Amino acid sequence: PGVPPPFISVSLTATLRLPQLRHACHCLLFAPLHVTSEVLNSITQGAKTYGIAKSFHALQEERRERAERSVLISCSPKVSEKKLLKFLSQHGNVSNCFFYQSYGVYAVVEFASKNSIVGLHESTSLPSMHHEVSVPFKSRLLTLKTNGSADQSGGSNSVEFHPQVAMPINELLQQLSAEESVDQQLSRLTSALQLTEENVSLRFLVCSLVKDVAAAFFPKCTVHPFGSSVNGFGKLGCDLDMFLDLDAASGNPKRKPSGFYLEYQMKREASERAVTQSVLSVVAESVEQFSPGCVGIQKILNARCPLVRFSHQPSGFQCDLTANNRVAMKSSELLYVFSSVDERVRGLVLAVRYWARVHGVTSSVAGAWISNFSLTALILFFLQTRGPPILPTVDQLRDLADQSDQCCVEGNDCTIVSDLSRIRLQTNTESLERLLQEFFEFYAAFPFNHMSINLRKGKEQNKPESTPLHIQNPFEATLNVSKNVNAAQLDRFVALCRESAWFLQQEAGSKPATVPTGGSAQAWGLAALFLPSLAQAAGVKGRRKKKREPASERVKSLLQSISTSHSSQ
Ligand code: GTP
Ligand code: MG
Repeated sequence: PGVPPPFISVSLTATLRLPQLRHACHCLLFAPLHVTSEVLNSITQGAKTYGIAKSFHALQEERRERAERSVLISCSPKVSEKKLLKFLSQHGNVSNCFFYQSYGVYAVVEFASKNSIVGLHESTSLPSMHHEVSVPFKSRLLTLKTNGSADQSGGSNSVEFHPQVAMPINELLQQLSAEESVDQQLSRLTSALQLTEENVSLRFLVCSLVKDVAAAFFPKCTVHPFGSSVNGFGKLGCDLDMFLDLDAASGNPKRKPSGFYLEYQMKREASERAVTQSVLSVVAESVEQFSPGCVGIQKILNARCPLVRFSHQPSGFQCDLTANNRVAMKSSELLYVFSSVDERVRGLVLAVRYWARVHGVTSSVAGAWISNFSLTALILFFLQTRGPPILPTVDQLRDLADQSDQCCVEGNDCTIVSDLSRIRLQTNTESLERLLQEFFEFYAAFPFNHMSINLRKGKEQNKPESTPLHIQNPFEATLNVSKNVNAAQLDRFVALCRESAWFLQQEAGSKPATVPTGGSAQAWGLAALFLPSLAQAAGVKGRRKKKREPASERVKSLLQSISTSHSSQ
C-alpha cells in the first residue's frame, strides 16, 4: 500500500470503458496517475479498432457529465499528489486526477460525485485582499493554499505533468528523422500531435466553467465544445470552439394545454441573429466581470457567425464562444464519425494539416487561404474516392440512420447514423504512406477549374459557380465552405501538392542508408517534407511564382501519368 508496483496487468473485457478502468486502478492502487496516458490511449484506440467507438452524443454527454464534477486547482510546482488527494478525499472519492503546467501548475480533479463539489465549495475560503476587493463569484477554479506547518510538497516524488501543447517543430522533426520508415514517421506524428484524453477533459472542464457563468441567466443552458476539440482531428494547442446551447433553457411544450395556461412575458428582437447577439453580449460581459482566468474578451458580434473570443489563462486555450450554431455542431459529429471509421483517417488529416501549416497553405487567422475545415473536407473526399473507399459518403451515413438519428437544422437534413457499428466498408489495405503520396498526386491533378468537391455523393461534380475552389457544405448544399479561397491560394496548394508528390516518390518509404541512426538525425522523409525548402522549391513562398526548376520536368511527366490514370478510371 502506498507504493504501487511499476506495472500491473489488467485483463479487460470488451465493454470496459476508460473511466471505469481509471476508477478500478484508483481503488486498487490509490494512485490513478500511475496509469499513463499512453496506456489509456492505446486501450481506447484498441477499443476503436474493434468497432466499439461510442456514438458522438454518448461520448460528449459522458465527458460533459465528468466535467461537471471536476475542479481546476492551481498548486505549488512541488505539490505532492498523494497529499492533495488525501486532503480532497474528505469531500468524497476522487475518480481521476492529473497535473499540467501552464503559467503555473494546475491539477484537474474529478470527483466521483457532483455532491463533493458542494462540500468542497462550503469549506473553501475567500481570498484575502489587501488593496483590492474580490468579486464574490465562486467558481470551480481554486488555489491550493498552505497554512502553518502544512507542506504541499512531496519531496523527491514530483508529479507527472501532462503536456497540453504540441512539442516544438525542431524537436518533432528530430523525432521523425530517427524513425525507420515514412509509415513509422506518420504514426509518430499522430501520437505527438493528437489531443490526449487529459487535454480533451480539460476542454470540457473549461466549457463547464463558462456554462456556470451563463447559467446565472439561463439555468438549464449547456456549453458544448465543437470543432477540432471533439471531431477527432484536434492537434494539441488548437483553439477551443464552444457552443452555448440555450434550447434546453428555452424548451417549449409542443402542444398548448386545453383550458387555462400561462405564458412567459419576454423581450422581443427582430431576428434570431439579434437574439444571439444580445445573449452573447451579456454572457461576454459576465465572463469578463466575473469569471477568473478569462482575459482579453472580444465581442465579434457582426461576424457571419457572431462570437465572443477570449483566452482562458489557466488552461492556455484560445476560446471562441458561439450560440445558435447547431449546423457546426452537426459538422463536428460528421467529422467524428469519419475519424472513428478507420484509424488512418486521423493520421492522414493530422499529417496534411501539419504540412499545410508549416508551408503557409493554412493560417491561424482567417483570409483568402484554405481553412483547416476546407482542407479536412478535401482529405475526407479523397478517402471517399479510394478503391475500395476508406470512407462512406454522407448520403450513405444518412441511409444507415434510424428514426432516433433524424435531425433537421434550419430546414437542412442533417441526419447521419450514430451507431458506428453499422458502418461497414470493403477492406482497403493501403498504407498511410501510400495514402499521403496519393493525396498529393490526386490534388496535384484535380480539375479544380470546372469540378466541385461533394462529400454527400463522394464524387466530383460540375461546379455550380465560378469561385476557384468549390467544396459543397455537406449539410447546407447551396453553400460553398471554401468560397473565401482565391486563385493564388489555390495555386499555392496545387503547386505544393505537386512538389510533395514528387518529393515523396524520391524518398520511397524508408530511411536512406546515409542517415545515421540515433543522435541528431538528418531530416528525411516526412521530416524533410515539413522543411521550408520544399515550399521554396514549389515557388509558394513569395507572391510571384518562381521559374520552374529542373525537378519540375520530372514532376510534369509524373503529372501527365497521373492525369492519364485518372481519366481512365
Ligand atoms: P482548428 O483549426 O484546429 O481550430 O480546426 P477546426 O475544425 O476547429 O476549425 P475552426 O475552429 O475554424 O472551426 C470550428 C468549426 O466550425 C469547424 O470544425 C466546422 O464545424 C465549423 N466551420 C468552420 N469553418 C466553416 C466553414 O467555412 N463553413 C462551415 N459550414 N462550417 C465551418
Ligand atoms: Mg477550432
